[in-house]
Amino acid sequence: MFPADRPRRLRSTPAMRSLVRETRVDPSQLVLPMFVAEGLAEPRPIASMPGVVQHTRDSARRAYAEAAQLGLGGVMLFGVPEHKDAVGSGAIDPNGILNLAIADARAEVGDATVVMADLCLDEFTDHGHCGVLDAQGRVDNDATLEIYAQMGVVQAESGAHVVGPSGMMDGQVARIRAELDAAGHTDTVILAYAAKYASAFYGPFREAVDSSLQGDRRTYQQDPANAREAVREVLLDLAEGADIVMVKPALSYLDLIADVRREADVPVAAYNVSGEYSMVEAAAAQGWIDRDRAIDESVLSIRRAGADIVLTYWATEIAKRLR
Ligand code: PBG
Repeated sequence: MFPADRPRRLRSTPAMRSLVRETRVDPSQLVLPMFVAEGLAEPRPIASMPGVVQHTRDSARRAYAEAAQLGLGGVMLFGVPEHKDAVGSGAIDPNGILNLAIADARAEVGDATVVMADLCLDEFTDHGHCGVLDAQGRVDNDATLEIYAQMGVVQAESGAHVVGPSGMMDGQVARIRAELDAAGHTDTVILAYAAKYASAFYGPFREAVDSSLQGDRRTYQQDPANAREAVREVLLDLAEGADIVMVKPALSYLDLIADVRREADVPVAAYNVSGEYSMVEAAAAQGWIDRDRAIDESVLSIRRAGADIVLTYWATEIAKRLR
């Protein structure tokens, strides 16, 4: 006569729903990606990412302090250099913008939040690729590894707690780990962008870092059609010594976050990327969706899929809302 099962009982009041909630978001699980640009007098708004700026070193300092004060899990730093060249020299220069930003961040927050640095050449090369090119103009995997190895050591020496290789070169985690260890940085953590797809959702990021890329990254980033390959990439990175593995982007790849969570015995991160941010902001600006709820639901869904750590441009805002 009547339904035997009544799941609605557990939805009757806010307190009841809170009691049975399976997934929570805590500021300590959120990482704020930040862009720090060389030669700026004022922070510069990124048009395709409303609310996100290219920071000056000074404005970035205030953001590091705020991140620590809000209890964020960390900040992930990207450098935007004034000058680029074919081999991305700025990346391994201790006075390059990213390395200076890392040092500023450590001076500002100490160990109060985790200072992470993107370890990739694309912001520093004039051709915009994540590695150096060979004579035929192809991305040269093994020559790139040598630069990544130096970059890891410079970032560690600048004060990074965590380096985040994001270039999808084969063997990058092992090569960076070996060089870090040889230089005495055995405690520097490697957060591997293990399963990173050649995605349209990085579009706004290209403006954020003044990218000079022509063409695409399909010879090194993964084909969005492939799921098994994500597990393969993750297992390789774990064998090479990754401490944390990441899936990127997040929202169109929730299935892979769940797969990776099952396969990996280390923390899993996911990157709620620029395009995922901008789509919500654009729709909200039109009045088409409830912005705050869409943001919270986006990040919650990434956690529910299995990510322990979420990189999101909304980290500060969500942390404030949670307080
Ligand atoms: C590469 C890198 C990219 C992003 C993070 N690291 C760009 C790319 O792979 O093309 C994208 C992040 C985002 O879209 O928010 N250094």
